[in-house]
Amino acid sequence: MTLVSPSLLSADFGNLDRDIEMLNRSQADMLHIDVMDGVFVPNISFGFPVMKFIRRASTKPLDIHMMIVDPGRYVSQVRDCGAEIMNVHYEACTHLHRVVQQIRQAGMSPAVTLNPSTPVEMLEDIICDVDMVLLMSVNPGFAAQKFIPNTVRKTARLRELIDRSGSKAKIQIDGGINLQTGSEVVKAGADILVAGNFVFSAEDPEATIAELRKL
Ligand code: DX5
Ligand code: ZN
Repeated sequence: MTLVSPSLLSADFGNLDRDIEMLNRSQADMLHIDVMDGVFVPNISFGFPVMKFIRRASTKPLDIHMMIVDPGRYVSQVRDCGAEIMNVHYEACTHLHRVVQQIRQAGMSPAVTLNPSTPVEMLEDIICDVDMVLLMSVNPGFAAQKFIPNTVRKTARLRELIDRSGSKAKIQIDGGINLQTGSEVVKAGADILVAGNFVFSAEDPEATIAELRKL
């Protein structure tokens, strides 16, 4: 079964309660929360006060995608928001191994994210220490962008690396996911699909989440 992590970036922030209630009723396996600082990515989203509200309203595990410079500075604040998973970019951490350990020591699941241009081979020496790898299938910063086709081959290469190393890391894909691109990456070895625009612009978001889970 494919796990689905709807991205709240495409929710209606004027009706966040309503959208989170819909996700609580849905089969979503977790909620994907995109944090941006306007430096690591050319956009700003939201921070800890909003995350705390999401934690109160949601019954699902929170999967925090930190698109910020030096995310290791915020491990305890993310933990205090009640997050289960903290995703940090390979490109944003000078001492990735230390940050991964800090996330684990804080009681969260560590995950590492790669930009589209970063090869999966860069993870060779950290793959057994993380619970999840997030491959960006768009350049991070914005919802509703077009899926980068090379992600399919990259997913297969990551699957090989994980299986070869004996790591238990799950593969998550983020950006431009719909039924077509989702099925391609699942066939290549992905475990978890992030979907923002495809879920929230659907006429029936709950049914759309259920369809993605069947891929
Ligand atoms: C992009 C974010 C994604 C985004 C995905 O920077 O990391 O999580 O919300 O949105 P869609 O599914 O619309 O491409
Ligand atoms: Zn994301």
